[in-house]
Amino acid sequence: MGGLGASPTGRDGSVSRLPPLLAIGRAALLSSLAGGLLLGCGGEELADTPEDTLDAQSQAVSSDERRPSPAPSGAVGLALEVENGVGRPLRVRAGGTFYVNQIDIRAAVQSSTDEGLGTLRTGSDFAGLGWGGVRQADQEAVGAPGPYTRRRFYRDAAWMDVPSFFIVEPVDAHGRLTGRPVMLNAGSEYRRRTERDDFFIRRFRAIQTASGCATHDDCSGSTSFEEEALVELRNAYDHARAKTLTFRPGTRALRLRWSLRPAAPYEIPVEQVANPQYAYGFAMDVVPLTPPRPDGTYAPGSEITFQLTLRDGAGQRLHPAGSLPAYNEVAPDGNEAGINYYRAFFDASTTYYRRKHRERMLMTQIIGPAQHIQPIRSIVGLDAFLDPAVDEQVIATPERDGVFSQFATLPFANVLFRGAFFPNEGLWDRPNTDMWQYTIPANAAPGTYLVTVKGRRTYLGEDIPGSRTIEIQVGTPERTRATLTTGPCNSCHSQGGELSQVLHANDNRAACAGCHAPLAFELEGPIFVRTHFIHSRSNRFDAPLEKCSSCHLTKESTQRTSKAACLSCHKSYPDSHVEHFGPIESMYVGGGPESFQQCTGACHNQHPGSGL
Ligand code: HEC
Ligand code: HEC
Ligand code: HEC
Ligand code: HEC
Repeated sequence: MGGLGASPTGRDGSVSRLPPLLAIGRAALLSSLAGGLLLGCGGEELADTPEDTLDAQSQAVSSDERRPSPAPSGAVGLALEVENGVGRPLRVRAGGTFYVNQIDIRAAVQSSTDEGLGTLRTGSDFAGLGWGGVRQADQEAVGAPGPYTRRRFYRDAAWMDVPSFFIVEPVDAHGRLTGRPVMLNAGSEYRRRTERDDFFIRRFRAIQTASGCATHDDCSGSTSFEEEALVELRNAYDHARAKTLTFRPGTRALRLRWSLRPAAPYEIPVEQVANPQYAYGFAMDVVPLTPPRPDGTYAPGSEITFQLTLRDGAGQRLHPAGSLPAYNEVAPDGNEAGINYYRAFFDASTTYYRRKHRERMLMTQIIGPAQHIQPIRSIVGLDAFLDPAVDEQVIATPERDGVFSQFATLPFANVLFRGAFFPNEGLWDRPNTDMWQYTIPANAAPGTYLVTVKGRRTYLGEDIPGSRTIEIQVGTPERTRATLTTGPCNSCHSQGGELSQVLHANDNRAACAGCHAPLAFELEGPIFVRTHFIHSRSNRFDAPLEKCSSCHLTKESTQRTSKAACLSCHKSYPDSHVEHFGPIESMYVGGGPESFQQCTGACHNQHPGSGL
């Protein structure tokens, strides 16, 4: 199956090279169909063999295409999207060379009664797939104090678990191939094979969302249910980036063929843009506008103004200096320049399980001094997000949290979130600033403070994260460093899965904790909760889960027993604990705001199998 990937990108564009390559694809397709894939298919679609389909295609390769212009130095990663069987139209730079970096497929149906996944399984774009084995794996509700929205997460349907792959074919207006197709190996649920899988992230699942529930678990009065199936593939491994697609002038669509439904390909219309205004790529700058003292340091108590600049990969700014576009000019899918803001109002995101990469928050934080950086466990209230007088939230104070932190969403929370709560105030139509102020407390400890910005750009088919961390000195010119208790993480995060590439493209793990404080309406914010949760739920975490030493450097760092620390992996605890600490009500943190309190310092100083 590596055949296509290992092959050169065909710069000569010679059509004569296509048939043998297609033959490899066909052989692989057939051998997979003969194997485990049968499990993943519903039945009827197998009647049509992919061989026929591909044969027809390979003969249809149009011969009138010109030789492609030389490939740009770097191939660009494309994000493909299919919603209820319909490919989302893709605008790309004309004549570019691309690889597939992300595939999002979703099938969704609505129901007024609680059918579990019944309607999805029988009456959706995914109805023909193999649903055997599907089971509810997790459940979480949001919206306290009510009405609640409850999500049930389903896994282990055959189509989710078995190995499968995609073939992406560039085609012309008549559906004829215009170039070399690529084959992308989606891998399987239970085995991550870095050298053969093509994507670092692979999440296939189904979700039932019930709205208007009386309690976190009582949706008997609800009349609004959504059932959806999701395929999330992203972050192409290094080797998969060599599987390039070159678009010819006549290329009008990408045909996306999934081995689990070989005869029912999706079609993604392609529009090629000849002289786009911006380049691909994403860079973020953040600079302090307030000058430091002559020795280069800021005094404790200073108010420091920072300015953000978003640029394309060629350094061209994406917005005028001094302002950022209004929320309504950007949401939900980004503006012409590719700027994106938080968009979970339109496409809900839930950690690990649902489309967190599409939340696309533009955000900044300060945290320091570096030597005091630690997880923040005080909860940030919703009021702090709606107060018209507060642009930057104070997240952690030295006296309460042992470290100082502030953050700000851009647009500010009192525009972004207040605008959602109070639409008549017109906040979403106001232009926004690219500047904000952090106020270092008067009692701030001296040292290095880290200022981070993060965001996401979607531009002409590319959907990529960006982040930037700068350091400022407070009270002393001497640089100080964070003591990390975990890491370095790159035993698995490599070959395209580096933290510098996945998620926020940020591998400065000293600078995570400010943005990742628990919020009253999103208690699962902290890094330890998210890291434990994602890796414990992933069946692709290829180390024994109880072996804390895969991530933790010291035994002490695993000893602060709290519901949030332990129940972000564990789904149950003994009856004695239920009596004492309450039933488990959150799959992420165990319970409510009390979940961050240390339960005990006396018990659980060892974890079985921890390796520490
Ligand atoms: C400037 C703010 C900010 C910083 C710094 C930051 N994050 Fe995030 N993080 C977010 C936001 C906002 C989200 C929600 C998704 C989005 O909008 O990108 C998120 C999402 C996540 C998720 C959920 C991913 C999923 O698939 O469910 C994880 C895990 C995470 N961050 C880890 C980290 C780590 C590790 C670091 C440090 C290397 C970090 N974050 C630094 C703001 C930040
Ligand atoms: C034993 C292998 C392994 C180790 C060690 C490991 N990870 Fe991961 N990590 C993975 C895998 C596999 C995934 C993908 C999970 C999935 O999607 O199913 C992942 C996913 C993630 C994600 C989510 C990325 C996204 O886009 O949603 C973050 C963040 C992350 N890891 C951070 C860390 C940090 C921080 C450490 C070290 C403290 C670490 N990981 C150590 C294997 C590992
Ligand atoms: C995939 C990586 C990973 C694995 C495996 C892992 N942890 Fe963690 N853990 C983290 C990260 C990252 C943090 C946050 C560190 C920080 O912010 O300083 C953390 C923090 C913690 C904390 C501190 C919580 C707090 O309130 O500060 C405890 C306790 C903990 N882990 C327990 C464990 C135990 C017990 C195990 C093994 C059974 C384990 N962890 C396995 C990544 C991991
Ligand atoms: C990274 C995930 C992870 C974290 C975090 C974690 N555990 Fe575990 N724990 C496991 C796994 C996996 C096992 C072994 C399988 C099992 O029993 O569930 C285990 C086993 C245990 C056991 C033995 C259970 C038995 O029946 O033998 C205890 C007790 C335990 N954990 C307590 C804790 C406590 C207390 C914390 C928080 C300080 C914690 N765990 C944090 C993953 C985790």
